[in-house]
Amino acid sequence: MPHTTPDTSSSYFDQVALATAAVRAALGTLQPKVAIVLGSGLGAVAESVQAPIAIPYSTLPHFPQSTVQGHSGRFVAGTLGGVPVLIMQGRVHFYEGYSPAQVTFPMRVLGALGIQTVILTNAAGGINPAYRIGDLALITDHINALPFNPLIGPNEPRFGRSEHTGLRFFDMTEAYSLRLRTLAHQAAAEEGFSLTEGVYLATTGPSFETPAEIRAFRTLGADLVGMSTVPETIVARHMGIQVLGISCVTNLAAGISQTHLSHEEVFEAGSRVQHRLAALFTRLAPLLTALEPQP
Ligand code: HPA
Repeated sequence: MPHTTPDTSSSYFDQVALATAAVRAALGTLQPKVAIVLGSGLGAVAESVQAPIAIPYSTLPHFPQSTVQGHSGRFVAGTLGGVPVLIMQGRVHFYEGYSPAQVTFPMRVLGALGIQTVILTNAAGGINPAYRIGDLALITDHINALPFNPLIGPNEPRFGRSEHTGLRFFDMTEAYSLRLRTLAHQAAAEEGFSLTEGVYLATTGPSFETPAEIRAFRTLGADLVGMSTVPETIVARHMGIQVLGISCVTNLAAGISQTHLSHEEVFEAGSRVQHRLAALFTRLAPLLTALEPQP
C-alpha cells in the first residue's frame, strides 16, 4: 500500500538491489540497455515487443504497485526493432501517496540493471496554444513544480555508475539529451510524421489545474503540464542515464480548451496515438544502440 514514510538510504539501497536481482533473474540472458516507461493510455506500445517476457511488479520485492486505472503494473522485456528493451507498463505517482523515494524506486532498479538510455513517456495537457490533441512532443527541458526533489536526503554515491555520477550536486543543463532528441526527430521523419517540442512542468495532481494556474505556468515558460516524469528524470540523471522524454498531448490544458477535463479523455487520446509511438520506438531503438554511452 502507498505510504509516505521516508526510506532510510541504506535499506533503500538494499531494497533496490533485491528488486534488481529479481528482474535480472526473470530476464535470463536478455540484457537490455534501453528502457521505456509508458504513461497513461500508452501501455499498448508494449504489444509491439517481440518474444515478450512479462514481469509483474507484484512479483518483485519492494516494487511499488500502481493504483491508477490505465497503468497495468509490469515490465515487458523483449526486442523492438531487433534491439533488447525493457518496458515499464505503468508507473506510480506522488499523488497516489507514494513517497519520492518510492516514485523513483523503479528508476533506481533500471540504473542498477545497467540501463543506459531511458525513454520516459507521459500523457500531458497542452499549454502551448500551437499544440493539437494527439501531438507527440519531445521534452526539451522541465520545470519542477512538485514540492520536493527526489534526491533530498543523504546522497547515496553507490547509485552512481562512474566517478562522474552519483554525485551530491550535478548539472541539469541538458537533462533531456539533445542527441536523443535529434535521433527521435529522424525516426519520426522516417515514419512520415513530425514531433513537436516543449518544456514540461510537473505538478502533483491529482486534480487537474485551474485556468489561472495554467496561465501562471504559461508565464513561467511551460508548454506541457503533467503529473510524472520529472522525479524520474532527476534520478536517472543522478545515475548518468541519458533521458528522452516524450509527452502525448492528450488534452488542451484547463482554460485553453472550453471543455472540462477528465481522465477518460486523457486515456482515450493516449490510446489513439499508441500505434504511432510504437512505430517511432521500433525505428528509434536501433538508432540508440549505435550511440556511444556518455558519462
Ligand atoms: N494536467 C495535468 N496532467 C495531465 C493533463 C493535464 O491537463 N493531461 C494529462 N495529464
